[in-house]
Parts: sequence; structure tokens; C-alpha cells
Amino acid sequence: MVEYDLRYRANVGRGVHRLAAVATHRYRDARDAVKSFIGGEDGTLAVTRNTTEAIGAVVAGLAWQRGDRVVTTLLEHHSNLLPWLRLRERGVAVDIVRPDADGRLDLADLEVAVRDETRLVAVTHASNVLGTVLPVREIAGICHDRGVRLLVDGAQSVPHLPVDVADIGCDYFCFSGHKMLGPTGTGGLWMRRPDLEPLFVGGGAVESVTAGGYTLAPGEQRYEAGTPP
Ligand SMILES: Cc1ncc(COP(=O)(O)O)c(C=O)c1O
Repeated sequence: MVEYDLRYRANVGRGVHRLAAVATHRYRDARDAVKSFIGGEDGTLAVTRNTTEAIGAVVAGLAWQRGDRVVTTLLEHHSNLLPWLRLRERGVAVDIVRPDADGRLDLADLEVAVRDETRLVAVTHASNVLGTVLPVREIAGICHDRGVRLLVDGAQSVPHLPVDVADIGCDYFCFSGHKMLGPTGTGGLWMRRPDLEPLFVGGGAVESVTAGGYTLAPGEQRYEAGTPP
């Protein structure tokens, strides 16, 4: 960060001058480094402000219909609970699985909670309150057997555990830079497939624009409208 501020402080992905090219390359290198750190080479990693924004991008990016259901747990941080509770206003039901007295989640309870109408399961990888580590690989197995998407909140696991999103088999993985010795105001949304509608569109997110419409850029760029951190 110091090197950036002193030597090539230019807007990423915008200018054609030398410093902008250096900043752009270094930004993309940083993204690749983070991607391989979480075993996410085969997916798409959009840089966000934090975990909360990454989860919000998933909530906003899926086409919800009345009658859809979401399963989550009572172990969640507010950032992985309130966005789902708010979906109730749009006719989406939220099923909350409770842990036992020791803070452990019984997978059988989660399996029962997943019904035909369930579109997504959203669970924390490691609880910020109890330290409980959830068996996310097994949860991914349950989800995929039923054609349900899995979002994992990795805000606490990325700094404390080896994480391999490909091995977990989740669809979305959300985390924060500031919890893993990175800069405040950075986070990540890793997607197995870039199948979400972007939260914002604008500069940097498009391939071409005419007065009649626009074509979004492929890959991560479509999720990073505006000047990145
Ligand atoms: C498990 C968990 N999820 C989500 C968050 C929210 O992270 P942020 O404030 O970086 O969006 C936190 C923050 O403490 C957390 O511990």
C-alpha cells in the first residue's frame, strides 16, 4: 500500500498512462494472489468493501420469487442474518436452524430444513461468537444433492483456517480483507459461476456502450463498477 501511494498512485483500469498500467497490473496480481490463497482459481473473485457487501451482492443478485425459501442458522453474524430476514418483505421465507446447547449444529436438522422451495443455504464457516466451525463440505453435499445454492460466510475462517473453496464446493464465499491483515475497506465475493446480476453497473464494468444499451464485461470486472479500492 505504501509503495502504491508513493510510486504509482493512479486509477486502476481507467488510464492508458504508465502509472495507471502499473496500478492496474498490481491490482490484478493482488486479486490473483487472494484467489489462489482461498483455492478459488477456477471461479470468479469480485473485490468488495467487506463481507457484508459480498453477502448483500448475493442477496441482490439472485432473482427471488414469492414462495422461495432460504435456510440459515442461529450461529450467524448479523451480516449473514439481516439480509435474509429482509427478504421476508419480498415473500421469501427464512428457516433458521438452531445449534444445540454446546453451539454445535446437527446436520440432520439442516437436512430437514432444506425443502423443495429452498433456493439457498447461507451459513458461517466459523462463528465469531462461539468459534464453532461448521462442516461446510458436508453442507455443500446436502445442498447440491437437492439443487440448492450454498453461500459460506468466511469472515472468520479465512484468517484462521486453511480455506479451499473448490474443496468445500460452495457457490459463493464471502470474506473481509481487514480480518486477514489486509486493508480496511476490502473484501471478496468468490463465485463458482458468475451468475449474479451485478449490484451496480457503471464505469469499468462494461465491454461496450451505445445510446441503445450496453454489454457487461465478462468475469470479475462486471461486478466492480467504479474506482476499486
Ligand atoms: C462471521 C462474520 N461474518 C461477517 C462479518 C462482517 O464483516 P464485515 O464487517 O467486514 O463486513 C463478521 C465481522 O465480524 C464476522 O465475524
